Amino acid sequence: MLAVHLISFFFSKLQEDPTKKVDRFLHAMRLHDDQLIDISARFQAEMKKGLSAESSAAAAVKMLPTHVRSTPDGSEKGQFLALDLGGSKFKVLRVKVREGMGVRKGGVEMEEKIYPISKELLNGRAPELFDHVSESLKDFLHVKNISLEKKHPLAFTFSFPCEQTRLDKGLLLSWSKNCRARGLQGKDVVQALREAIDRTGGMDIEVLAMVNDTVATMMTCGFDDQYCDVGLIIGTGTNACYMEELRHVDLVEGDEGRMCVNTEWGGFGDDGALNDYITEFDQDVDATSINPGKQIFEKMVSGMYLGELVRLVVLKMTKLGQLFDGLVSDALMTKGKITTAHVAAMEEYKNGLKNTRDILVELGLNPSQDDCIAVQHVSTIVSFRSSNLVAAGLAAILTRIKQNRHLRALRITVGVDGTVYKTHPQYPKRLHKVVRRLLPECQVRFVLSDSGSSKGAALVTAVAQRLASRKRQVDETLAPFKLSQEQLQLVKATMRAGLEAGLKNKGPSAVKMLPSYVYHTPDGTERGKYLALDLGGTNFRAMLVKFKKGLQNNTRLYHKIYTVPLEIMQGTGEELFDHLAQYVSDFLDYMGMKKAHLPAGFTFSFPCEQTAIDTGILVSWTKGFKATDCEGHDVVNLLREAIKRRNEYDLDIVAVVNDTVGTMMSCAYEDPQCEVGLIAGTGSNACYMEELKNIEKIRQKKQKTEGDEETPEAVEDKQDDGSKGDKKAETSETSRMCINTEWGGLGDDGSLDDIITPFDAEVDHNSVNPGKQRFEKLTSGMYLGEIVREVLLDLTRGGLLFRGRVTETLKTPGIFQTKYLSQIESDRLALLQVRSILQHLGLDSTCDDSIIVKEVCGAVSRRAAELCGAGMAAVVDKIRENRGLDHLNVTVGVDGALYKLHPHFSGILQETTRVLAPQCNVTFLPSEEGSGKGAALITAVARQK
Ligand code: BG6
Ligand code: BG6
Ligand code: GLC
Ligand code: GLC
Repeated sequence: MLAVHLISFFFSKLQEDPTKKVDRFLHAMRLHDDQLIDISARFQAEMKKGLSAESSAAAAVKMLPTHVRSTPDGSEKGQFLALDLGGSKFKVLRVKVREGMGVRKGGVEMEEKIYPISKELLNGRAPELFDHVSESLKDFLHVKNISLEKKHPLAFTFSFPCEQTRLDKGLLLSWSKNCRARGLQGKDVVQALREAIDRTGGMDIEVLAMVNDTVATMMTCGFDDQYCDVGLIIGTGTNACYMEELRHVDLVEGDEGRMCVNTEWGGFGDDGALNDYITEFDQDVDATSINPGKQIFEKMVSGMYLGELVRLVVLKMTKLGQLFDGLVSDALMTKGKITTAHVAAMEEYKNGLKNTRDILVELGLNPSQDDCIAVQHVSTIVSFRSSNLVAAGLAAILTRIKQNRHLRALRITVGVDGTVYKTHPQYPKRLHKVVRRLLPECQVRFVLSDSGSSKGAALVTAVAQRLASRKRQVDETLAPFKLSQEQLQLVKATMRAGLEAGLKNKGPSAVKMLPSYVYHTPDGTERGKYLALDLGGTNFRAMLVKFKKGLQNNTRLYHKIYTVPLEIMQGTGEELFDHLAQYVSDFLDYMGMKKAHLPAGFTFSFPCEQTAIDTGILVSWTKGFKATDCEGHDVVNLLREAIKRRNEYDLDIVAVVNDTVGTMMSCAYEDPQCEVGLIAGTGSNACYMEELKNIEKIRQKKQKTEGDEETPEAVEDKQDDGSKGDKKAETSETSRMCINTEWGGLGDDGSLDDIITPFDAEVDHNSVNPGKQRFEKLTSGMYLGEIVREVLLDLTRGGLLFRGRVTETLKTPGIFQTKYLSQIESDRLALLQVRSILQHLGLDSTCDDSIIVKEVCGAVSRRAAELCGAGMAAVVDKIRENRGLDHLNVTVGVDGALYKLHPHFSGILQETTRVLAPQCNVTFLPSEEGSGKGAALITAVARQK
């Protein structure tokens, strides 16, 4: 019988694998992938809570903005002192950062000294703790022979949760880990340090930045790896930070670029979110900690608690008789007797079991081999759970980054530090494996911070210095684009003088003021079917317009758009007009109207000297056109001849019209107050209804036909003679003519030289018409992109953009079309999208680059809109004064891609006009159908005569 018992005893002993019993005992700590995915999802939800303005105050995961906006790019440099407080060791350091990216090109030199901090100080009064910190700093200066006279910038790694409003200001939210010095919670930590430094005296220290250890670690690793957008600490405490899109960080103003967010994930679970994963051992650890109920996740994960968790498990198993034959030792019952170092030793690859035995013997226990195996397994389960939980948290962060960036796969580097990660033999491998299993689509690299977090803290400080200096330099470059009210008033006055000079018939003037022979805006009686041809904007358009009997708003339009190739725009005149005749032929075919012999209006958006409504002698090409043998010729004739050459259809070209005039007419059909036309498109121009008596060319012509009966002065006297006010209004219908100002030429006489920047000069120099259309070259779509490109080139050459690399793309004229500027400046676009537009253009940009590019676009387009506003103020004020009115209500018909597509142009234009012409109430009415309808209306009037 005894033999049977003995056999079954031995058999059971033989059979019982000690790890199985531990597995059973600790099954709640063994987390499977589905549980990790669940925890990861919960953490994602917590991150959202922490970021949102409504829920952040009560959130367990605090998601603290750090005001660190970019990772290192190699341009950081300088010498810094650094303090590193909050990990297992307090250190003072000197960090020298040499410019250049990464270990090989640049470099960081560091000298450090560890200063012990007693438990009493950690648990005493904060001022005393900080006095110790600053005295250690002074000692360090002394030991390292660093001048006490000179001012030293200082970077401060402070590894506790702080609410930062700036890089150099942060309120301590709560202590964690092993510190609870009284009197600092809710106070500015940087200020406390400054005060302590003052108390110590004898040093000149400038505390430039305070960073959490996670942030500093990310920056340290980012120095060698530009994909490093996550920082992770698994040390005394645990925490992670990552680069979040600023638009998601509710607590910080602005939605451009990124900011590093310190998650403070140690607090995950403080609101009960992890209750179903918490074991009795976690509860015990928490209950006996210095901060019960707080840092629940940290207490399941970090070095300060792992040993204690193992101790509590082993103690409980022993008490239940499952270990050491139920014999408990005093040491085993004492808090802190098993440390993380023990855990690491027990899991060592070859010596693990031996180490376990030694540790247990040290604890006054008498372990069997099975006991050793079991305790080692306890340690494995506890540390494995820790790395699993970190993997779940990390998976949540990486998933969030991936979603933020709209990527299906992500390549990213995680910078890691902390004693657990560094000293536990299995930890890193396990962590990496689980993260990769949870996120198979992500290419995650883990980089161990080689030199602690101070290097990163110094880099943050250097970045802060660099960004401040870069911002200063960018601001300086853009300063000439920022026009003061006085400058804009001056532009208005210059434009006004230009308008007046152009109306006088004394030789060529910069602002040409061309009569259009359009005397009236439409009155709604126009009817019939007309062809409208439209050359000079982005495209050539052919259009059929039908006005129904006397009914306003009853117009029918059919149109087709044709792109004029550059070689045709810049070839011979004959080729150009043959092309137009061919487009018209195609359109008539399309409409089935080849035989119709329609009356046609020709919108020709270039300066033409007109002597009648159906003649227009091209003064000079503008915008990108330079076809030969056209300047000085009647463009109506050129078109008629081309049609004749085709000998295929017939057209009756009744009117030639500038696009501004066409646009004004088109809009006036809808709104009788419309007496001004504006184009802000490829080119820039305006027209308006001017008093006939002010148009000297017309007056002189009239006098000639009337046989020089009266002198010009006599005509003026007669018209001015007491006839202001009502009487004038009565005759206004017949006494005005629309003038195509051709304001684009303002400044061709040097009158705008004061506001013309070197970038504008370069754009002018490279254009097809240097020295001409200077105002247009500051204000229109064809040139804004080029100005932007010139500025970007300059900033890049100055090392302020694109890492100083001037690429072929950047050197390519015309890459920034108006549509791209409009997209880049759209408020609805996140910077990432700006970057992808730049990418599409062939420009590889960082986040900071794209902020600057957007700023440059903004400065250039704002100036354009303001200048147009100043021009418009001059025009409307002139109309008002012409009519002797204190107040004028007027509508401006507008067209052009810049006005219609740019997100801010129209708003700034209107605002500037309002401010500079306060006596005018100006309504801007976008033209619906382009100027073609206006040209048709003019044709209709001319035809009906
Ligand atoms: C160090 C950092 O490298 O890592 C510390 O310089 C940080 O600031 C620490 O707190 C985390 O590790 P541990 O294990 O010392 O808490
Ligand atoms: C269109 C007119 O509506 O606007 C064109 O019909 C004009 O004649 C154009 O030139 C201006 O816009 P953009 O942006 O094409 O130059
Ligand atoms: C604690 C601190 C946190 C720090 C982490 C790692 O969780 O609250 O700020 O980053 O420990 O040191
Ligand atoms: C150019 C032309 C002008 C036209 C304007 C807008 O400035 O010279 O005639 O109105 O562009 O298209």
